[in-house]
Order: sequence, then C-alpha cells, then structure tokens
Amino acid sequence: MTAASEARALLATLTRTASSGEWSAPGRVNLIGEHTDYNDGFVLPFAIDHRTHVALAERTDATIRVASTFDAAPVEVALSALPDVFPQRDGHETVPEWAAYPLGVAWALVHATGVDVSTLTGVDIAIASDVPVGAGLSSSAAIEGSTAAALNDVWGLQLDPVALARVGRTAENDAVGAPTGIMDQMASMLGRTDAAIFLDCRSLETTIVDLGFDRAGLELLVMDTRVSHSHATGGYGERRASCERGAEIMGVPALRDLSLADLPRAEQLMDDVTFRRVRHIVTENQRVLDTVRALEDDGPAAIGALLVASHASMRDDFEISAPELDTAVDAALAAGAVGARMTGGGFGGAAIALVAHDRVGAVKDAVDAAFAASGFAAPVQFTVTPSQGARRDA
Ligand code: GLA
Repeated sequence: MTAASEARALLATLTRTASSGEWSAPGRVNLIGEHTDYNDGFVLPFAIDHRTHVALAERTDATIRVASTFDAAPVEVALSALPDVFPQRDGHETVPEWAAYPLGVAWALVHATGVDVSTLTGVDIAIASDVPVGAGLSSSAAIEGSTAAALNDVWGLQLDPVALARVGRTAENDAVGAPTGIMDQMASMLGRTDAAIFLDCRSLETTIVDLGFDRAGLELLVMDTRVSHSHATGGYGERRASCERGAEIMGVPALRDLSLADLPRAEQLMDDVTFRRVRHIVTENQRVLDTVRALEDDGPAAIGALLVASHASMRDDFEISAPELDTAVDAALAAGAVGARMTGGGFGGAAIALVAHDRVGAVKDAVDAAFAASGFAAPVQFTVTPSQGARRDA
C-alpha cells in the first residue's frame, strides 16, 4: 500500500465524511551546508522522492483530531484550546511527541496569522509517510509541510510557501521543542524536480540550482546507518550554543558575518573547542558557495572534493559524526564514489554518496561489507531523486 492510500484508509477509520482533499510534502537530503542555517548562513538541500501524505476531512465542530500510522490512538484538541497546549514545557507534555508536529503546525498557523479561531472549521487529519524516521532525512519537516499546506488551503489562510516553512519551524522549535533552523522546512516546501535550493538563511532568498545528476550519469545514494538521533536533546543544542558564543566573542550578530580571513583572529580570542566549531561554520559557508559555483560551471561531477571536505570538517571540527557515518563515507569513497558526507544534524542518521550509475551496486556492497567487518548493524541503502516540494495531490 502506498503512503497516500494508507492516509486515505486511516481517514476512513476516523470519519464517514468524504475527504476534503489530500496533500503531501517530502523529506530532504542536504547536499552541503550543515549547521549553517541557524548561523544565518548558506545551505543547499533538495527535496527527495519520499513523502508524507495527509488526508483531511472537515468536521462540523471546532475540534482538530490527528491520527497517524505511527500510533493507533488519534489525539484531539479543541481549536480554542491550542494556546493552552503549546508551547509545551519540558516534563509537562500534554500530547504525544508525534502529535505535537501536526497540532503544533495548527497552533503556529493560528499564531502567525492572528486568525480568529472561532471562524475556523474543525478537521480530521490522517497522516502516513514513506520518509524514513530518524534517518536525518527530515521526516519531521515532511509532516509539518504536508499539514501546513493542508490547513492553509482548507482554512483559506493564503500563506505563501516561505511563510508556511516559518510556521513549520515554529512548530518544531516551540511545540516539539527542537531548537533547529529553517533549512528542512524550506527544502520541503520549495523543492523542485532535478534541482537543489540554494538558500540564504538570513534573507530567506532562494535560488534554484540545477543538479543534473542523471545527465552526468550520477546517482545520489543514501546510506542510513540506523543509528537514531534526536535534535530535541543534547548535542544539537550544545553546538548551537557554541556558535552563539563564538559570534558574541567576535562581536558579530551571527557566524555568517565572518569570513575565512577572520579565522586567525578567532583562534586567538577563543578556546580551542569554540574555535573549531566556528571554523566549521565559516569554512562550510564557503564550501556551499563553492559548490553552487562548481555545479553551475562544471556540473555535479565537480563537487566531490567539497563533499569530502565538508565531512572531514564535521568529523574533526564540529564533532557531530559517528563511527558508523565515518565508515559509510570512507567505504563509499574507497569503492569509487565521487564524493560522500554525512547529511543532516549528525550524531547518527544518514550519509550520502554521489556515485556513477554503474558503481552504485559496488558502493552499496562495499558499505555493507565495511559495516559487517566493524560489527555494526546493517545499514539501509537506497538512491533518491530531487523532487517537488509540498503540494495538493487531490
Ligand atoms: C537538522 C535541523 C536543520 C539543520 C540541520 C543541520 O536537520 O533541523 O535546521 O540545522 O540539522 O544542518
């Protein structure tokens, strides 16, 4: 059964009312530009061909009810009670974590538009997804994007995709409690077939950058280590705090405002760990710019060394890799990948490799063999294609 028909079938168990419509939004792979988004920097993600589907039916009362294939029990809240539920406070969660994503989007939409909730129709929402969860492929942004697109249409709010991406981030930050940036939501809302989104996270200006993997005979392989991670806890927030400290020491609003030429001064002014966190962000921003130029001038076969340098920076300076991610990257490169790096927030999740079409089988086998030799659980590997962002499907 496809995720779209699963969502439809789940909705049918909730209500006899005919569905008002179906929407979907994709997960993403970040090609390059990691942890630069919350530093006002540059990122280059693309939406993937794995999507979260939402089927929605209007209700006659003012209640929002969400159901998901992740959990048998639906969760319902009166629309007027959303401000009592969110923001959730640590240890006082009133809804299960999965439900905080779609309900948090409803709350953030009301908050962002100032719409009078008494004018809104209640809804039943059923959610099913084929975006792998915990793989660093933004399953959460896919839930946020599909729910935001659905409610925006049904409630007639007329927010544009960038505003909906902001709503998704508000849900993630304040309803779920993960201190993430805006890259994932922007990629999920704005994705294009065969292209990446070059995003300036300060201005939120986007440029569509042609990827042309197919024309160049390349494929993008995802190597999901199945080491799970959560950005609501621990390392992600610590990295963010180090970056803020680094910017403060340098007297700039954000690390985006530093260039490579500022690094010697930074090294003198701060402790070694903070300096290495700063160096990752500054060099990574430059690598994003270099990758965009290389793609435009020479095509995707020319970006391998930049991907590899990005991985080394995350492993050694930002220290967010994991043995499984390093093993996947090293094995893919040794087996002939053009480039490889971990993708997403780190501490687990997936790595990506850019691989010539006829080497994909050999790279997969090499990664499997390297995992087995290290005693790691087998990875899950699949290729993805750059795909369209959030949309109404029916
Ligand atoms: C997670 C966050 C993003 C971004 C990446 C790291 O995916 O949700 O906002 O910070 O990590 O680049």
